[in-house]
Amino acid sequence: MTSRAARTADDPGQRPSEHTLRECAKSILTGLLISVPMLGWGGYVVYLNWLAQERERITQVEMRLAHMRLVTAPPEPTLPVSNAAHGRDLFLSTCAACHGAEGKGVAGLGRDLSTSWFVASLKDNDLQAFLVQGRPNGQPVAMPPRGGNPDLQDSDLRDIVTFLRGVQDPRRLPELPPPTIVTKPLTEEEKAKALAAAGGDAELAEFIASGQKLYASTCIACHGPGGVGVTGNGKPLTVSEFVRKTNDDDLLAFIKKGRDPGDPTNTTGVGMPAKGGNPALSDDDILDVIAYLRSLQSSAAQSSVQK
Ligand code: HEC
Ligand code: HEC
Repeated sequence: MTSRAARTADDPGQRPSEHTLRECAKSILTGLLISVPMLGWGGYVVYLNWLAQERERITQVEMRLAHMRLVTAPPEPTLPVSNAAHGRDLFLSTCAACHGAEGKGVAGLGRDLSTSWFVASLKDNDLQAFLVQGRPNGQPVAMPPRGGNPDLQDSDLRDIVTFLRGVQDPRRLPELPPPTIVTKPLTEEEKAKALAAAGGDAELAEFIASGQKLYASTCIACHGPGGVGVTGNGKPLTVSEFVRKTNDDDLLAFIKKGRDPGDPTNTTGVGMPAKGGNPALSDDDILDVIAYLRSLQSSAAQSSVQK
């Protein structure tokens, strides 16, 4: 009786305990049902972030290998001669100042483009778009928009891109004709200005006009339009004491030699390349540029007198 009483007394006790267990299990299950997806979601987000970072890292590595892959793979088709030659001529007159005639870079100026992974990894359109923008905050000097030559049209830049493909993979470069200097013809207004600057002397006006065209393709990147100078690069030439005080022969010798950053007379720490980086310029070409510089100086002097 006692035991039965005890059992019956136990029974109600045991039933709640089963009930508690079930409740307990239920709440654990609910907890799991809620927390597993939450933890799982968190983990998934972490995983996605990691995956994105890994992908980014792999893309970077891939890009950095782009040039190596280019030259170890079988060559792509040979480049069209006329586009490559025109691109080469433009490159020599505008880009070579900072990147060297063979695109291998100039210390203290522009980078080596021949092995650049940046060039190798960009599609033609993107490389062309880069050239339009340049890299104005570049180091050690700015990479100017359109290489500093505003006359370069999009089709010109496209030909430069074609030439750069050959610089990166010489196997693709066809035999090119000898370089020619590319200049843009002057407008009637510019011609009239040259004649006025020459004091009506038609022959001198020709020299000034020719010098202006050469200046606009070779010197403008570093000395700015009309010789106003470029901050962080070429000095203003319109008001240069050095230009004013130096005779034509000595100025010709100076421009042919340039002025290294290590030269004691260098004041900017930036180099002025020999012939402004354009090896195709003859002495007569440079004398024309000097005639143009003189005309800039006299019009700058006149306008300061007028002020
Ligand atoms: C005044 C000097 C200057 C001239 C002119 C110039 N560049 Fe540059 N360029 C630079 C500098 C400096 C850099 C590197 C900038 C940086 O990344 O900090 C550069 C970078 C570049 C790059 C990117 C290379 C890389 O690996 O990141 C390309 C491509 C390039 N230049 C092409 C050209 C072409 C084509 C022209 C002519 C149309 C030209 N540049 C004219 C100075 C110049
Ligand atoms: C890559 C850039 C670059 C190009 C291209 C360039 N120059 Fe210069 N030039 C310089 C720099 C930088 C200086 C200043 C050097 C110094 O600190 O003394 C300079 C200095 C000069 C000076 C001396 C000015 C003075 O007051 O001391 C003359 C003259 C000159 N350049 C003419 C030219 C002509 C002409 C061309 C084109 C045929 C040309 N430069 C192309 C960068 C350039």
